[in-house]
Amino acid sequence: MSKAAATDRLIVALDVETVEAARALAATLGDAVSFYKIGMELAYGGGLTLAQELKDAGKRVFMDLKLHDIGATVERATRQIARMGVDFLTIHAYPQTMAAARAGAGDLKLLAVTVMTSYDDADLKEAGYAYGVADLVARRAAQAKAAGIDGLILSPLELVTIRPVIGPDMLLVTPGVRPAGADAGDQKRIMTPAQAIAASADHIVVGRPITRAADPRAAAQAIVGEIESALALGR
Ligand code: C5P
Repeated sequence: MSKAAATDRLIVALDVETVEAARALAATLGDAVSFYKIGMELAYGGGLTLAQELKDAGKRVFMDLKLHDIGATVERATRQIARMGVDFLTIHAYPQTMAAARAGAGDLKLLAVTVMTSYDDADLKEAGYAYGVADLVARRAAQAKAAGIDGLILSPLELVTIRPVIGPDMLLVTPGVRPAGADAGDQKRIMTPAQAIAASADHIVVGRPITRAADPRAAAQAIVGEIESALALGR
């Protein structure tokens, strides 16, 4: 599997309210960042147009839309997103949803969300599941691989347990990354960029440590530097 260059390993979460704010942030970051994540908040506020602009500017774009619906709808929605020419799309890791998205995706890479990190064992029980978090993550990771899904969104700590289960080829993408000494915010189980890369993450998703930094470009460059050092050490 070919590994992306250090800059390409960093995905910046454009978690801002307006397209104007996101556009200004991307302009500030310039060539320090090559890959952006657009989530639901921005997507529903004009972010689909912004995705196109970013693609036209030569950036890679991850649409974090977490699709989940009946198969026919997921397949057709995925096909529409694939037509935009973006790079990654998230879907929930239900077998029907994954099969449908696969049918509609073409070259668009699909990332499955196994279990939301805001859920613990008690939340899953409350929602009617027979599995705890660790078992359900492992089960859904195996189902995603069987469905031909390209990668998984995992918390940093799950990287370590899931990589051996799914093998080297699936992309592992992790949020919850904080540079050493940075404010963890509401992220509870964090790793540094270097630790996440060493733990076999293909891409790390970083939001506030860059988007709310006094100097976002310098913050992004520092993280890319950390990724470079980790890659030089072997991964
Ligand atoms: O600002 P921060 O670096 O915490 O942003 C992380 C990004 O990753 C946010 O867009 C957040 O919604 C997303 N994310 C997460 N944890 C998950 C799934 C997605 O933090 N389990």
